[in-house]
This record gives sequence, structure tokens and C-alpha cells, in this order.
Amino acid sequence: MSSSTQERSSWSGKWAFILAGAASAVGLGNMWRFPYLAAKYGGGTFILTYLILVFTFGVTLLLLECALGRRTGLSAIGAFRHFGKKFAFIGVLASAVPFIIAPYYSIIGGWVTKYTFAYLTNGPAALADGGKFFTSFISSPVESFVWMAVFMIVVFIIVGLGVGGGIERANLVMMPALIVMAVALVVYIVSMPGAMSGVAYYLIPDMAKFSPELFVSALGQMFYSLSLAMGIMITYGSYLDKKSSLPHSVANIGMFDLGVSILAGLMIVPAAFVAMGSGEAVAAKSGPSLMFVTLPKVFQSMGPQVATVIGFLFFLLVAFAAITSAMSLIETMTSIIMDGKGYSRKKAFTITCIFTFVMGIFINLGFNGLSFFQPLGKGSTILDLFDFVSNSVLMPIVAVLTLVFVGWIVKPKTLIDEIEVSAPFKLQAAWSVMVKYIAPVLVIVIMVAYVGAQFGVFKF
Ligand code: PHE
Repeated sequence: MSSSTQERSSWSGKWAFILAGAASAVGLGNMWRFPYLAAKYGGGTFILTYLILVFTFGVTLLLLECALGRRTGLSAIGAFRHFGKKFAFIGVLASAVPFIIAPYYSIIGGWVTKYTFAYLTNGPAALADGGKFFTSFISSPVESFVWMAVFMIVVFIIVGLGVGGGIERANLVMMPALIVMAVALVVYIVSMPGAMSGVAYYLIPDMAKFSPELFVSALGQMFYSLSLAMGIMITYGSYLDKKSSLPHSVANIGMFDLGVSILAGLMIVPAAFVAMGSGEAVAAKSGPSLMFVTLPKVFQSMGPQVATVIGFLFFLLVAFAAITSAMSLIETMTSIIMDGKGYSRKKAFTITCIFTFVMGIFINLGFNGLSFFQPLGKGSTILDLFDFVSNSVLMPIVAVLTLVFVGWIVKPKTLIDEIEVSAPFKLQAAWSVMVKYIAPVLVIVIMVAYVGAQFGVFKF
């Protein structure tokens, strides 16, 4: 083994691991994507479907990845190679995902950081101008790069301080702060006149809205939100001691992530109801425009002082969620380079930072200098291309390969033995069936549905 084995990091205990897993999982996906999907697909119906998926399929995959990491003590490439050189390619594909996501996630992180400060400096009215502020900011030739760099520097400093001294400590501050801010915002928003009909719209299931489309969207959301199929949980599992119970840990991570998603919706959907009288306003907007254009308008309608406080707190909360997720990407990339090349942590970390920064500049140029390059059709950007390749192409492929690899090649028993090192695993039979049959089929369903939609066979 390389010298990096000796300096391999580890968590201080089970709760540090759970918190880190939750911190990776809770991110931009929870804050704007979940509320928008829930609003679109009949509120409670979507939440219920999502909940069932998280606690069946989601925790199955979380458990698999963590056990694989802990069993081999290596990040993704090494973990797969451990069982034979010819399997290393699965790890390579998984590892490509954080390298693709980290730069563009940091750009969006930069937007969030900018907005957090802009609530204090520019004031809420400036941000609620229907999109001009947003467009001119993201296409600015200097400012947008500066905020991307600010976001990256914060993340780099934390990860640079190491797993115990940086990541654990930052999570210990940011995650509770995030929960407190989210609960405070929910309490305020829900108590506004008229908000209760928004809460009802959001929580009460409307079974008529259940559709295959809802199911596929919930599945895709679950993947991204739990940070699956990108080597993160393999790396994090490799830092875990043999005493900590894996099933208990992953159940907690799933619960944490689901809880924050539900809170985010309780904030956004009722707020939009109060401002616009319907959930359709949320449902009609997806992606950046919901967070950076619609919500500032909703906040503005609460009056200037309230809007300043709510807007600032909201974006600070989103910034914390984004920082802790980005930390998990940078840590995973560092770990992959260390294990793969036998480099010291410092060298691997430096390469990771330089790579992320340079790629970030390139992707951000897609909003200004290189905006003529529209790889996915009119109006699309380089960021969209990166997002597409990682989330829609690589992640489902990695998931199927990982499931087939564990289910049929190394066999679930190998990982069950690892899980049982710390505690008896009562659900092992169900878990094996999930890994071998149900989960791969479900992922293939998402892929077929997606490709079908591209060719117009289904409509999404
Ligand atoms: N799970 C995170 C979210 O919900 C996204 C993420 C992506 C985290 C990639 C880490 C890595 O936003």
C-alpha cells in the first residue's frame, strides 16, 4: 500500500460520520428542487412516494456504499479494484462525478453567497426586480468569478484543515445552525395570514396526482439528494471505525435529509401561497429562477424590513447547505487522488483545488465570454452540460454497475459480513433482494423513461 494509507483520515465517532453524511446530502437539491417537485406533483403524494423510496431504495444504496468503503478502507477506485483490476473502471466512472460536479456546484454556491450579502448591501428590493439583477450578476465578467472564488476559498480552507479539524468541526456548527434557521423561517412563514392553505396544499396527499412521471422524478431526486453514485459515501465509509453500526447510521442520514427537504418545502410553498395565492407559482418555476428570481419577489411582498431578515437568513441557510455539500465533494476528490496516485494528502488536496478552480472558471465563462457555446440547445450553458453528464448520464450508469457488481459478482454476503462486524443486520434478506433485483430494475426504469422522454415516447 502507498504511504497515504498511514495518514488516512478517520471520523471521531459514529455521530461525526452521520453528521458528515447528512451534511453532504443536505444541499441545493433539498432547498429548491424538492419544494418545486412537491408543488408540481400534488404535495403530500410526492412527499409520501419520496419517503417510501428513501427508506427502501435510498438507504439500501447508502448502506451498500458505506459498507464497501469501510470493508476496503479505500475511496471509490481502490474499493472496486480491491475485488479485481477489471472492476476498477466502475470506480473511475463514480469518481468522475465529483470532479464534474464540484466546479459547477461552486458556481451556484457563489450565487447563493452573493445573494446572502446582497440582502444586506443592496437591499431586498434590488433583488426582487424580476430577474434583471440575477442575469446581470451571473453574466458579469468579474463579479461572478469573484463570488465563485469566495465560495471555493471557504470550502478549501475547511477541507484543508482536515477531516477532524475541518470537516467535522464545520459540520458541528453549520448543521445545527441550518436546522435552527430553517425551523425559525418555517414558524414565521406558517404563521402568516393565508399560509395555512399553502401548508394544506403542500402536505395533504392528492392521490389523483400520482403518476409514473411523479415516481421517476422522486427517484431521480432521491439519488441526487442522498449524494449517491458518486463515490462520496464510499469515501466517507472508509473513514469509519468498525464499531459503528452502519444500518443505524444510514437510517439517520436518510431521515436527516428527508427532514430538511420537508422543512424547505414548508418554507417555500406556503410563502408562495401568501404572495401569489397558489402553489402553481412554485410548480411553474424550476431551477435557478425559483430561488433567485421568484423567491426574492415573494420575500419582498412581506415588506422591506421583513424581507431583509428573511432573505438574508434564507440565503445564509442555503449557503451553509451548499458549503457542507461542496466539502464532501472536495474531500472525496482529494481521497481519490491520494489512494489512486499514492500522493500525500497535501499534494492531492492542492491538485483538487487547482482543478476545481480552473474548471470553475471555464464553466463560468459559459455565462459571459463563452455564452455563444450552447451545448444542449438554444439558451443552454456549459453548466447545464456538466449537470446533464453527471446527473443524467453518469450517475444512473454508476448505480446500475455498482448494484450488479455487489449483487452478482462480489455477492451481498461479502458486505453483509462487513455490516455484521459492528451489529447484527436483521434486514439482510430484504437488503439482498433489493440489491440484486429491485434496485437495478428501478434504476433501469429511470434511464429508459429518461431516454424515452428524449425521443418523445413519454412526456415529462
Ligand atoms: N446532495 C446534495 C444536494 O441535495 C448535492 C450534492 C451533489 C452533494 C453532489 C454532494 C455532491 O444538493
